[in-house]
Amino acid sequence: MACALALAGCSGPQSALDPAGDGADRLALLFWVMLIGAAVIWAATLALAFFAARTRRGRFDERAGSALILWGGAVFPTVVLTALLTYGLSITPDLRGPGDGLKIAVSGEQYWWRVRYQPKDGVAVESANEIRVPAGERVEFMLEAADVIHSFWIPSLGGKVDMIPGRTNRLVLHATRPGIYRGVCAEFCGRSHALMAFPVVVMERAEFDRWLAEQAGTVNVSTSRGAELFLAQGCGACHAVRGTEARGIVGPDLTHFGGRGTVGAGILDNIRENVARFILETELIKPGSRMPSYSMLTQEEANAIADYLGSLQ
Ligand code: CUA
Repeated sequence: MACALALAGCSGPQSALDPAGDGADRLALLFWVMLIGAAVIWAATLALAFFAARTRRGRFDERAGSALILWGGAVFPTVVLTALLTYGLSITPDLRGPGDGLKIAVSGEQYWWRVRYQPKDGVAVESANEIRVPAGERVEFMLEAADVIHSFWIPSLGGKVDMIPGRTNRLVLHATRPGIYRGVCAEFCGRSHALMAFPVVVMERAEFDRWLAEQAGTVNVSTSRGAELFLAQGCGACHAVRGTEARGIVGPDLTHFGGRGTVGAGILDNIRENVARFILETELIKPGSRMPSYSMLTQEEANAIADYLGSLQ
């Protein structure tokens, strides 16, 4: 029962032991090899200790004792650790190897992710807080940070790489299994570090191409009450909604916000109620965020803005 519960934690959208990518496959294999190897050596060492404790003194001479220390204490660990190092290095995924064409620049910001898709021969597409990749392709990530060090980690797809201000780190991920996974920030970056996540959607190639083409488009200008409030409240100073007067670049691009799975960078489901709450209580939901709470708005006004944002498909 306890074992089943413990193992249940090994699957799911954010587990390095439930791989859906080429790099993650090998990392998970290395983990199991090391775990089983360590368990066998641990059991053998314990058995030896029990044996030693129950054996009467003088049964073995000094030479046999010294030989045991030499073989068991020096030769055995040297051989095992050398073999493990060689094996580990040989299967470690090539994080920097060339990708198949698609590049995605991701920048860690104060508790959210700026995402820019750069297809091989196409225009760059700005997005935020959600990453989509085609299955069966090596995608190259260019990782940056706007303020402090963050760390980019999608456990189901591969290893993590730090995002360091002033430089660009590269990471190549090769997703193999379509599905929805979860990425996180893996380096303490401030008060809402634990609230900095993002959904990762692995799609079939054709579906991905369709989606990206849609993302590249602008939206129609809306005359809804929510759209008017969005501009009147100055949201457009920080957020962009391409095709409208909102052209801010400080905060997440909201052009196709309605099509994203979450609000607040992976922390709340993208439904009207949560979006309105996020607008009214930003500082409660995401402490330290650069967006202030718009607590001066009424619930009805926040709902109208949430409806508008939800309509941006
Ligand atoms: Cu960003 Cu922790």
